[in-house]
Amino acid sequence: MSKILLTGATGYIGSHTWLALLAAGYEVVGVDDFSNSSPAVLPRLAQLAGAMPVFECADVGDPEALEAVFAKHQFDAVVHFAAFKAVGESGEKPLDYYRNNIGGLLTVCATMAAHGCRRIVFSSSATVYGTPEKLPLREDAPVSAVNPYGQTKLIGETILRDVGAADPRWQTAALRYFNPVGAHESGQIGEDPRGIPNNLMPYVAQVAVGRRDVLKVFGNDYDTPDGTGVRDYIHVLDLAEGHVAAVRFLLSHPESITVNLGTGQGYSVLDVVRAYEAASGKPVPYEFAPRRAGDVAACWADPSLAAEKLGWRATRGLATMCEDSWRWQSLNPQGF
Ligand code: NAD
Ligand code: WQD
Repeated sequence: MSKILLTGATGYIGSHTWLALLAAGYEVVGVDDFSNSSPAVLPRLAQLAGAMPVFECADVGDPEALEAVFAKHQFDAVVHFAAFKAVGESGEKPLDYYRNNIGGLLTVCATMAAHGCRRIVFSSSATVYGTPEKLPLREDAPVSAVNPYGQTKLIGETILRDVGAADPRWQTAALRYFNPVGAHESGQIGEDPRGIPNNLMPYVAQVAVGRRDVLKVFGNDYDTPDGTGVRDYIHVLDLAEGHVAAVRFLLSHPESITVNLGTGQGYSVLDVVRAYEAASGKPVPYEFAPRRAGDVAACWADPSLAAEKLGWRATRGLATMCEDSWRWQSLNPQGF
């Protein structure tokens, strides 16, 4: 049975991927420093998985702490989620973002190399496509970064490419996520943003549950069918299964890959509002507001490379994404 190290394991995508890896039969060791998640995730995971998860509280940028984890376990692969992810905050605190996202990746890779573990799945993002010239986005589209967060993902991909070029025994998978939303179907784990949500669906969820009064729709004059921004929302459970497929790929192919994880389908802000109202049975009042700086009009994936290479495709639609988000939000109105 292969043993996988999950960094950022108690976070939104990490916690769902943890369950998916366990369900696929992998042994998993989770690491997190709780800088953006709650220890309350762990008993929920235990309940869902039927056993207490193996967990170490550590900062992946701390070489000694990470060395202690690697000294206890022989890992076959690492799935590296740990990073800061707020685009706006990255412009205000660029040094924190470079230190945590780049410093963390460097420490993870150096510790892996020291222990002869050379398979890594890296959380990249559709943000690396900058302003798309052509849709849908294929992996060979031009890349650029318009904020420090995006830079950390581009630099992360570059670091992995260079590591692989220097030593072909390394196998890396850079997964470019589009817009992860939704929650586990049990309603026991889900996205729990601190403070005011930056992203659309958690904000809509908090309006539906009565925590916030009104959604601000950032821009209604984009060149899109209804004037609001269009994105490729992907269910976090599909995303989690994409990671299982990537781990399986690395364990069975002597190759490295960069692939999109999206559905290939774009929805507008107003499509999401309507789908959420239908799923929750609650009104989601909204008002139009100016465009948000740095936003693109539309962005969706060509997901065919992931289908070809990983044998993976997203299967859950927008209605399921909203229903599962609502179950989590309504059962846990204040989060964990
Ligand atoms: P999240 O904040 O919920 O999870 C990240 C986890 O990493 C948190 O639990 C946090 O406490 C932990 N962490 C951060 N720095 C750490 C460190 N130095 N040591 C140990 N733990 C640390 O975010 P998420 O949405 O689950 O995102 C996971 C990854 O996917 C991130 O790398 C993010 O950049 C990337 N990503 C997310 C999205 C998205 O929209 N959610 C989209 C594309 C890419
Ligand atoms: C979606 C749409 C907004 C909030 C971000 C990061 C990206 C990736 C995923 C990490 C846009 C509109 C939003 C609100 C709104 N993360 N919106 N009112 O910006 O596509 O992507 O998360 O890698 O890097 O940039 O996602 O959910 O913030 O916005 O109208 O209160 O919803 O303008 O059109 P985005 P989002």
